[in-house]
Amino acid sequence: MKVVAFNGSPWPGGNTATLIGWVFDALQAQGVETELCELAGQEICQCPVCRGYEGSPDGACPDGLRRVDSWLGRMVEADGILLASPVHHATVSDELKAVMDRCGRVERLRGNPLARKVGAAVVAARRAGAIQALDAIDRFFLIHRMIVPGTSQWNIGIGKARGDVERDAEGRRAMGELGDAMAWLMRRVAA
Ligand SMILES: Cc1cc2nc3c(=O)[nH]c(=O)nc-3n(C[C@H](O)[C@H](O)[C@H](O)COP(=O)(O)O)c2cc1C
Repeated sequence: MKVVAFNGSPWPGGNTATLIGWVFDALQAQGVETELCELAGQEICQCPVCRGYEGSPDGACPDGLRRVDSWLGRMVEADGILLASPVHHATVSDELKAVMDRCGRVERLRGNPLARKVGAAVVAARRAGAIQALDAIDRFFLIHRMIVPGTSQWNIGIGKARGDVERDAEGRRAMGELGDAMAWLMRRVAA
């Protein structure tokens, strides 16, 4: 069992990274392998939402920009996908949105390889907009026919400056519960 996480923060090692780390702790305790993909500093190809892929039967990127192949390939290899973002203006970061838009489009062209994988969203927020960001990510999972585990808390960590989220004990508990829920669900999907 493996989970790949995408950190949509432009600042590696910030609050979003901390939240991912807590989910990873719970997953690893259940014997689940984890992989982190940092989006900070990655060149986001500026093709118009991967229109170029439409001319390619297997969805291979025709202009040599391989980033989408790499992101989607990691998702396809994994049993579970964790998409994590800071809240930016009451929604997800540019970085995470680029992954969702580009991988989402190519996923369709490749015959929906994400269908029935487990997907979970995590967001770091200072004050407001966390539900909107969670909802944007959850809708990505649902339109790609993925399965989203519920938890008894919203998957949110509260903090502004790097490290602030460490003081959010409830957020930490929620991340642990999310890791447990992902591991439980992935095992049942695979059974
Ligand atoms: C451009 C920008 C926009 C932001 N917009 C919001 C917002 O709408 N609501 C909110 O609660 N926090 C907002 N924040 C604060 C971040 O979500 C918060 O500081 C978060 O913990 C940062 O996570 P990180 O350290 O992983 O980047 C914004 C931060 C930035 C840089």
